[in-house]
Amino acid sequence: MRTVEWINGRVRMIDQRQLPWNFTHLDFEDYREVAQAITDMVVRGAPAIGATGAFGMALAAYQCPTQVLGDALDYLEVAAIILKKSRPTAVNLAWGVDRMMQVAREDVYRNTKDMLSAMIKEAQTIADQDVVINQLMGKHGAALIRDGDVVIHHCNTGALATVDYGTALGVIRTAWEQKKKFRVLLTETRPRMQGARLSAWELHQLGVPFEIIPDSSAGYYMRKGEAKLVLVGADRVAANGDTINKIGTYMLSVLAKENNIPFYTVAPTSTIDLDMPTGDQVPIEERSADEVRTPYGNALIPEEYPVRNPAFDVTPQRYLAGIVTEHGIALPPFKESLARMVAANSTAKVG
Ligand code: MRU
Repeated sequence: MRTVEWINGRVRMIDQRQLPWNFTHLDFEDYREVAQAITDMVVRGAPAIGATGAFGMALAAYQCPTQVLGDALDYLEVAAIILKKSRPTAVNLAWGVDRMMQVAREDVYRNTKDMLSAMIKEAQTIADQDVVINQLMGKHGAALIRDGDVVIHHCNTGALATVDYGTALGVIRTAWEQKKKFRVLLTETRPRMQGARLSAWELHQLGVPFEIIPDSSAGYYMRKGEAKLVLVGADRVAANGDTINKIGTYMLSVLAKENNIPFYTVAPTSTIDLDMPTGDQVPIEERSADEVRTPYGNALIPEEYPVRNPAFDVTPQRYLAGIVTEHGIALPPFKESLARMVAANSTAKVG
């Protein structure tokens, strides 16, 4: 299963808004529609929108109306801005789009056809590498799960949040493939319910035992000693280790510390943003009040009740036991260990 792929001049995505009830795909022939699909969360999850941004750029090159290389570059610069603006918090989106722009700017093409081929190839490479990187994180992270553990997991970080396999849920998948015996408590993840709808859908197919819990009950399971480990993903990790992830992650991390439960983030190096000194500089997306008022079309509360709906929060690095990356587990002090993980990219061969 691939969350997003390139099919002969179209970008195909699983429509995640329909899950778990319907497994359907949508095809896009215009990069502006791809940007809108990211905003509307047809596709979501940091690595998945990174790859989608890359395929969106390939689509922009495909639909570009000019044969003049310089003009095509101008067209792509506009596409890059539109795609990057579609969701602000996950750094993977800008990372994927910028990587495509670097390929577009290379001074080696005889014509726009050559440039297009190079861009399609690069987007494909980004997608393929994402899967390999997730499997590597799965191997490093699976050592954290022991027989008998109950693991709390937030949001959806699985195959659907990536091109395939997943980050934190990928760690859970690898541990399960290693025949470890454990259970997972999936937070519902209000208001969009990624835990209840998407993570449960994935674990159900894999046969991993799970229970869906209300977000507000996580502290209950920690305090009574049932939960032994917390695993989450990240939309961005700042240079000092502060982790920006789905709203509610911060609360989980504080509760984990209070109850002496190790709390790990699982994130590829494409999610690490060494240009952000701390999490406080990262833009936090505010989403529509309708997601809270009228979840999935069901009116819960009257229109006139005021609502706030931040999509992410910042977990200060002091609450993290470690950050699992494709190059190993970064431990505190994170400033040094994360810089080492990112530097490892220049020597490592992935995919
Ligand atoms: O708003 P979403 O569903 O895109 O948020 C997703 C998350 O917060 C994930 O934890 C994060 O992107 C990491 S996914 C591998």
